[in-house]
Amino acid sequence: MIPSVLPTYNRAPLNFVKGEGAWLIEADGRRFLDLGAGIAVNALGHAHPDLVKALTDQANALWHVSNLYQIPQQQALADKLVEHSFADTVFFTNSGTESCELAVKMARKYFYDNGQPERVDIITFDGSFHGRSSAGIAAAGSEKMTKGFGPMLPGFVHLTFGDLDGVTDAITERTAAILIEPVQGEGGIRPVPDAELKALRQICDDHGLLLILDEVQCGVGRTGRLFAHEWAGITPDIMMVAKGIGGGFPLGAVLATEKAASGMTAGTHGSTYGGNPLGCAVGCAVIDRVADPAFLAEVNRKAGLLRQKLEGLVAAHPDIFEEVRGTGLMLGLKCKPANTDLVGAGYDNMVITVPAADNVIRLLPPLTLSDEDIAEALTRLDKAAVQVSKQLETA
Ligand SMILES: Cc1ncc(COP(=O)(O)O)c(C=O)c1O
Repeated sequence: MIPSVLPTYNRAPLNFVKGEGAWLIEADGRRFLDLGAGIAVNALGHAHPDLVKALTDQANALWHVSNLYQIPQQQALADKLVEHSFADTVFFTNSGTESCELAVKMARKYFYDNGQPERVDIITFDGSFHGRSSAGIAAAGSEKMTKGFGPMLPGFVHLTFGDLDGVTDAITERTAAILIEPVQGEGGIRPVPDAELKALRQICDDHGLLLILDEVQCGVGRTGRLFAHEWAGITPDIMMVAKGIGGGFPLGAVLATEKAASGMTAGTHGSTYGGNPLGCAVGCAVIDRVADPAFLAEVNRKAGLLRQKLEGLVAAHPDIFEEVRGTGLMLGLKCKPANTDLVGAGYDNMVITVPAADNVIRLLPPLTLSDEDIAEALTRLDKAAVQVSKQLETA
């Protein structure tokens, strides 16, 4: 009999009932160190007092009105994002995949309104992940996500990750945009080198294309800058955001330049919930913290510390780990045995990591984790590695 919850997830037998900072408490009382942060969502950890206050104050005042009316919290969050980024304008969504939907629509509408309706194609890269909506799976294009869900939304051209020559060769009179994650998350923590992002920006400028960055996973402080592309010294035309911006409340956004957004006039797009008072009150509290240069400096310091310790872990377990990869607090450990074995041994040792493609385990901790948490993380990851080593020996 089909379970009452549609069985699309492989869930671990863990039942968390409470969160405190970087810690999750299981129903049986065990305390787990959370290096997954709900897949890069709980940017300020669990139950951060600023977020609890923002949410409860707003909950006591007003939950929802719809976008038929003015929403001051939405205006405030849009103003903050415009102040702290390349963007001139922001549309709020509830998730990353909804941000992908709008990014695709916005790019196509821009060319339609500018007399080039044939420009609909969007170049994407293998290993990418842009969500599970029809546009999201068509954009990523992997068999795993698309099989059985045809017909696919047309207009996506899939290239090999890192193949810059391929990009120039793939551009035709139908090309509208290039869509890329500055750091692939689901794809196995694969950062795009700064020089490559710069080159993609240049290619877009040379050919009159729009550059769309998917910062759903790597944005909002995760790499040590408010947005990951800042490291490369470039700006996109359109950017997708979600996850961390809501700190655990479902919230997403599309940020864009005035030019790229010029086709999105009244009535062209909408959302009942997107940008509602609760989500935006929390989003404001997140951005107030994360955009603070002192906060980002701390993220960078802790990222350096964690990375250095992980390099030691890899050196200590050459049978288990191949390398550390990633940037900021978006790190990956490439495993030799199955990555799921390591994730499972992590559960046994009460440390949470998240599997990704390319046999990687992801470390996406709350940006607020402490030095003590980092020390504890290494102790627990080391125990997990020893456990898997022993399992391999006895197998
Ligand atoms: C880079 C990226 N884009 C889009 C998405 C989709 O976001 P959501 O699951 O909120 O729809 C994700 C989710 O993991 C992601 O990592």
